[in-house]
Amino acid sequence: MTSRFELEDSHKRYDEWLHSQRKNELLPKERLIPLLEVPVPNEPPALMQSKMHINEDQKKDLLARVQALIPWGGYVIQLADGVLTGSGLNSEHTIYRAHLICNAVKQLAGKSFADYSVLDMACNHGYIGLQCAFDGAKETLGCDLRKANIKKAQLLKEHFEIENASFKCEDVYQLDTQFDVVLNLGLLYHVTDPYLLIAKTYDTCRQFAVVDTITHLAPVSAFIQRTNKNNQHHAEGRYNVEYQPTYHALLDLMHAVGFKDLVEVVPAPSTPAATHPLYDAYQRRCIIGFK
Ligand SMILES: C[S@@+](CC[C@H](N)C(=O)[O-])C[C@H]1O[C@@H](n2cnc3c(N)ncnc32)[C@H](O)[C@@H]1O
Repeated sequence: MTSRFELEDSHKRYDEWLHSQRKNELLPKERLIPLLEVPVPNEPPALMQSKMHINEDQKKDLLARVQALIPWGGYVIQLADGVLTGSGLNSEHTIYRAHLICNAVKQLAGKSFADYSVLDMACNHGYIGLQCAFDGAKETLGCDLRKANIKKAQLLKEHFEIENASFKCEDVYQLDTQFDVVLNLGLLYHVTDPYLLIAKTYDTCRQFAVVDTITHLAPVSAFIQRTNKNNQHHAEGRYNVEYQPTYHALLDLMHAVGFKDLVEVVPAPSTPAATHPLYDAYQRRCIIGFK
């Protein structure tokens, strides 16, 4: 007997259901934990502005190196005047998140930041770890499954001349040292064992961990199974599926592995207000768990 049912059918039905719920404002926009407000300006962070002026030969060489590493997976990082890792300076994603995450870490670490080590768990291009190093962390390590991503991170490190940041190609589940702060960014919704990943995040950090992830709005503690067949640059890659948490599941999971207190990072009110289509709609969250 052959089954006519495919995972894509579930996706289609779920997406239709989501669309109708959103249209009728039936999904509650919940906030159940304290908020940490941090500055999220509209302009690129200081690190992206630190090497703006280079001569024409340097620019040609840098552009060639950036192009040799395409695709950059939609991440737009400004390296110098006229040299971007994508088309157009997309302030919505990389810039917004760099401010949100690095400012939260800096604010919480306070004066101790100069003694802190930071791990960026699935760093891709490595920019966020580089910015933490630039902003004053003692040292940062970025790791990623894919060699191609580590090459991008090395290029940024060399260009921005950040001595206290390093990168290695490694599966996060193989990490066996501890860091003061662990960044788990854009990874949870790409894995097939969310508990294992968040427990690893807990075990790997000494002070606190930042978990930044897509969160579904359904008011239940559940993981939504999605296919990642067309997203092989970001996915964990072991299977063709990944599990995306609801907001409730994210909080439950972080408590379940042992985090004592949780806060959600949000932009402090500013003029003009920085915007991001997913965080603004509560479809993506940045949660900090303290040990
Ligand atoms: C959506 S990207 C997030 C990149 C970056 N952390 C950010 O938030 O912008 C997901 C990244 O996770 C990496 N990745 C997936 N599974 C991994 C694993 N088990 N160990 C290390 N990296 C992993 C992918 O190669 C990809 O670079």
